[in-house]
Parts: sequence; structure tokens; C-alpha cells
Amino acid sequence: MKADQASNTALIVAAGVQMLARDPDYAGLVPDRMAAHGQRLLRASHPRLSSLIAHHWFRTLAYAAEKITLPGILLHYVLRKKTIREFVSLSIAAGTRQIVLIGAGYDTLCMELAEQQAGLKLIEIDHPATQAVKRTAVGTSHTNHIHYIAAELGKQSLAEVLGNCKDFDANLKTLFISEGLLMYLTTSDIARLLQQMKMAANNASLIFTWMEIQANGQPNFRPASKLIDFFLKKKAEPFLSGMAQDQVSTFLQQHGFNLEDLKESTAAAQQASQRKPIAGEYICLAHS
Ligand SMILES: C[S@@+](CC[C@H](N)C(=O)[O-])C[C@H]1O[C@@H](n2cnc3c(N)ncnc32)[C@H](O)[C@@H]1O
Repeated sequence: MKADQASNTALIVAAGVQMLARDPDYAGLVPDRMAAHGQRLLRASHPRLSSLIAHHWFRTLAYAAEKITLPGILLHYVLRKKTIREFVSLSIAAGTRQIVLIGAGYDTLCMELAEQQAGLKLIEIDHPATQAVKRTAVGTSHTNHIHYIAAELGKQSLAEVLGNCKDFDANLKTLFISEGLLMYLTTSDIARLLQQMKMAANNASLIFTWMEIQANGQPNFRPASKLIDFFLKKKAEPFLSGMAQDQVSTFLQQHGFNLEDLKESTAAAQQASQRKPIAGEYICLAHS
């Protein structure tokens, strides 16, 4: 990522969620609180884009652009978030008392949980440039419940960043969530990140999404888009890593985690919509 520039991909995810939240074809797919918090964040941080999304003609153009680049990517974003929320509920039912959302972008999970789960510790970590935009947009509404840490992982260690955070409690059962982030780190940075999660919390679980490796040996969506690959490279957000689904369990075991579940967003699509999300990114739940 460019050091002084907020993440473009985080904005695309947030805008995509808002598009589907407004679209009757996807009625009920985006939970009300997720839609409301996301709309408020986007209106405050990117007012022009937010008002464009309200127009049918703009959404029609955006869907056309989606169709010729990564068809089904917007549905995938929403189903990815739906699957993550299902994993989070399981984890809270199993005793999780602290959540650390890494590479949070404009995701609203912590805002939703702050309203639903009293007593849960909520920490968001993100690249400083992206987090600055989000914090300005959030204002003072959730600062009592959510602790924000600006850090560039890879350059800064997670264990050190959390060690310096007075709100982080290493003795609480902790769930780390990394949605749409690992592909921007190298495999060796990810291995270090897993080790640091185990070092930071005595009892750690993990939800993460990661890319498949495609036929050309590169991590990507299926089908991939040369145009989007070029855009990500230009914006200094290219995919740096991925892993075949059948290798994930062994990789996690090497770093002290057991894979509990691995899902593709298509699994959540069946009841949700007739349309198909794009393939190539899977969602995992693991325990240390
Ligand atoms: C594709 S966005 C995903 C945002 C959010 N998790 C979601 O899915 O809606 C990637 C996020 O990772 C963050 N990020 C990328 N590289 C990072 C790094 N080295 N350290 C911390 N955050 C990083 C970006 O700032 C951005 O918020």
C-alpha cells in the first residue's frame, strides 16, 4: 500500500456492500445494522460516492463494470461478511471475550458487536492512512467501545502493537479476524502474523480469508481480470500470496492453529440469491 493513501480496495468493498443493501434483488442479504452503519461511514468519509450509489443509473453502470471485470465480486463481499458473522457468533458462543479486527477497512462488524454484545472487548488495527479516514467518519459515536490502533503490519509486529495497547488483555479468549487482508502480505509475513497471534493471546482463534492459487500459479479470483490486476498494481495493492484450499490445514498446523472450517461464499449463496458470487477466495475458522 502507498504509505500516505487510504486503501482503495477497502472503499470498493464498503461501496459494494452499500450497493447491494439498496438493491431489491438482494433484499434481506445485508443485515439492517450493517447497512445503516456502513451508510453512515460512507456518507461521512466519501459523500459524493455515497450519494451516487443512491442513484439507480449509477448502480446500473457499476454492475456493468463488475460484469466485465470480476462478475459476482460484490455478492462475494456481502456473503464473505455473512459467513464471517456466522463464524463470529459460533466463536462468541464458545467463550470469545475479545475481538481484534486486523485490516479493518470500513467494515462495521465492531460497531454492530458494540451494540449487541456488552462486555466484549473490541480492537481494530489498520494501516494508518485508512484508519484515519474511518476514525474521522466514526467521530465519537463508538470510541467508548472500540479501541483503534494504527499500524502497518509487516513493518510492525502484531505482538508488539498489542503489547503496547492497554486495552488488550492477553488472558481473554481472543478472536483475531483478518478479512481481505492476507493476500496483501507475503506467505512469510503471514506465518509471522500467526506466530504473533499465539504470542499475543493465551487462547487465540482466527477467522481469515485467503485466495486460491489459479492455473497460472498466481493468487487471484476465478475468473481473474487483467484490468483489475493492473489497477491493483497501480494502486500498490497487488495480491502477494494465496494457498490451495487443501494445503491450508497443514500450513496452519505448522504455525500452531487447527483448521475448524473452510467455506467458499457460494455456500452462503444458495439460499441468498439466484446469482453466483465470484470464486477464488475462501473463509476459514481456526483455533490455536
Ligand atoms: C481489501 S481491504 C479489506 C477491508 C475490510 N477488512 C473488509 O473486508 O471490508 C484491505 C485492508 O487491509 C489494510 N491493510 C493492507 N495492508 C496492511 C498492512 N500491512 N497493515 C495493516 N493493514 C493493512 C488496508 O488498509 C485495508 O483496510
